Amino acid sequence: MQGNINKIGVLTSGGDAPGMNAAIRAVVRSCSYHGISCVGIFRGYQGLIENDIEELGPRSVQNIINKGGTFLKSARCREFQTPEGRQKAFTNIKKAGIDALVVIGGDGTFTGGLLFASEYDIPVVGIPATIDNDISGTDFTIGYDTALNTVVEAIDKIRDTASSHNRLFLVEVMGRDAGAIALNSGIGAGAEEILIPEEDEGIERLIQSLQRGRKSGKTSSIIVVAEGDKSGKNIFELAEYIGETLEDYDIRVSVLGHIQRGGAPSCFDRVLGSKLGVGAVDAILRGEKNIMVGIYHQKVITVSLKTGIKGENKFDKDLRRVADITSV
Ligand code: F6P
Repeated sequence: MQGNINKIGVLTSGGDAPGMNAAIRAVVRSCSYHGISCVGIFRGYQGLIENDIEELGPRSVQNIINKGGTFLKSARCREFQTPEGRQKAFTNIKKAGIDALVVIGGDGTFTGGLLFASEYDIPVVGIPATIDNDISGTDFTIGYDTALNTVVEAIDKIRDTASSHNRLFLVEVMGRDAGAIALNSGIGAGAEEILIPEEDEGIERLIQSLQRGRKSGKTSSIIVVAEGDKSGKNIFELAEYIGETLEDYDIRVSVLGHIQRGGAPSCFDRVLGSKLGVGAVDAILRGEKNIMVGIYHQKVITVSLKTGIKGENKFDKDLRRVADITSV
């Protein structure tokens, strides 16, 4: 199969994630190892449409493994969702002589990649990278571990001030559709309550839990709220509601926002990015197409790209139980 592959194109798309650089570096250096060319496509699918493409060699990716963000830059590209956009992209692929495409990103990135591969004759391999860890077919996505550590560090700091002032803090973390960051950081930072998109337990339960905590001697509390939680209120409305219901609580809100996506990748994410980058090139050279590389029991595996797109939710019910038991 290697005979048909002389040049691989790599891009990052969607929300950036720490460790994407490690994956890009691994793809580029893996191509060099196998004696094939590699080009970087800047700004994701937008760069493919606009022909923003550059030859990359081993030295082009030096000193990036330790950097957050993505050196290729990223974008959420609406034009690629149109047949005209994808046609322009394919014209540029042909012009650049690209034989296979590695797309690094999440659900949206894979959806675009799969559609593209079904319309045009170009093998596409996905590398899962999103801080949300919401891609099926892999135990972990690149960026998740770093984001979790960032969130836990931030909540630890919030707890110091919450406890000094006997306050209740509501901390919003990322995760529009997935509660992995909220649930895991909540357990790791010892949060009293965790609200996630996968469950709707009702605000009354939350109020009762806070009252129970107060009765049992708690003087301050942290509630971790995922962006997409099912309370039906945004975090400020939720704080207001709790304040009206439990009048003697001193409540503050902290929205962590995009600091969760930045920062130097953890060693785990650097190694994961490196393994998946090498695995993606290996898969292409084996002749696999329209697949995603993932990690399962520490080994690199491949699954269909479809599996990675809106697969089954990885919500771990056991973790909820752990959170409930340990937060009393
Ligand atoms: O998909 C990753 C993610 O960080 C989500 O957790 C978050 O909801 C979203 O991206 C934010 O996207 P944007 O940077 O476009 O506002």
